[in-house]
Amino acid sequence: GFNVHFAKMGDDLSVAPGQTVLAAALAKGMRLPASCTRGVCGTCKTKLLEGKVDMQHEGGIRQREVDQGFFLPCCSKPLSDLVVDR
Ligand code: FES
Repeated sequence: GFNVHFAKMGDDLSVAPGQTVLAAALAKGMRLPASCTRGVCGTCKTKLLEGKVDMQHEGGIRQREVDQGFFLPCCSKPLSDLVVDR
């Protein structure tokens, strides 16, 4: 798995292979904004400061936002260690 560092919270999270960032965070009891949990609503949208993800969203983010570095933790699996702006 990969490590996710939450820059503002100062917390670290281990994400198992095949697990989304949000699922791992919720399993650990972290409180992150989320609603649909499947890439539709955009509630979980977060800036990715470092690293790469495999994001399979359902319209909850615009390409322009992806270009600006945002991602949806509910439908993204890490492809590297990550640093996120939370
Ligand atoms: Fe709805 Fe992530 S919780 S897009």
